[in-house]
Amino acid sequence: MTENKKNNNNFSFTKENLLLAERELKKYPKGREGSAIISILWIAQRQNKGWLSSDIIDYIAKFLDLPQIRVMEIATFYTMFNLNPVGAHHFQICGTTPCMLSGSEKLKSLLYEEIGEQSSVSKDNLSWVEVECLGACCNAPVIQINDDYYEDLAVTDLKNIIDDLRNKKEIKPGSYKDRLSSAPDNKNIQILTEDEIEEIAKNRTKPGLEAKNA
Ligand code: FES
Repeated sequence: MTENKKNNNNFSFTKENLLLAERELKKYPKGREGSAIISILWIAQRQNKGWLSSDIIDYIAKFLDLPQIRVMEIATFYTMFNLNPVGAHHFQICGTTPCMLSGSEKLKSLLYEEIGEQSSVSKDNLSWVEVECLGACCNAPVIQINDDYYEDLAVTDLKNIIDDLRNKKEIKPGSYKDRLSSAPDNKNIQILTEDEIEEIAKNRTKPGLEAKNA
C-alpha cells in the first residue's frame, strides 16, 4: 500500500480555498456534503503543492464530517491524488493498452533513467507515476505534466521536454505530430464550413432507407 507521509499538521484551508470549498459544499443537499469529497481533496492537494499528507486527510475528514477511512478510500482510489510529495513538474504517463502499443513502455524507461523511481522526487524537482487511461487514446502515447497533456510523443520529444524543463524553458502542450486536436494525423484533412456541412446533411441518404424500399 502507498505510504502516506505525515506532516502539515498545521494544515488548514487558506481564506481563498475555504471559500472555494464552501462553494463546493453548497452544490449538495444538506446532510450530503460528503459528496463534495473529490473537489475538496483536489482543492487541498493544490494548496499543498500537489500531494495529500495523512494530516490533510484527517483535516478533510473533519471538514466533511466523514470517517477518516472514507476519505482515505477516495484518496487511494484515484491516481489524481498523490499521497507522497511530487515534483514541481509531475509526469503522469498513461500505461493502458493504446498508449502501450504506441510506445509508452519506451517513454517509461526514459522517465526512469532521467528522473528515477516512480513516486520519488529528483534533485531537480521532477517526479513521475504510471496511470491508467488519460482519455486521449487517439493521440497515444500521452503524458500529463501538471495540468496539461503532451500527446503523440516519441522518446526524443520526451527527452526534449525534460531538458527544456531543466533549463527552465517553456514546453508546448498538445500533439507532437502537429495533429489538429484529435483529427487524423495527416495533412490531407479537409475542414468544412458550416454551410458545407449543412449541404452534406441535406443531401445525405438516411441509413436503412434503401433497404426499406428494396
Ligand atoms: S490509453 Fe492512453 S490515453 Fe487512453
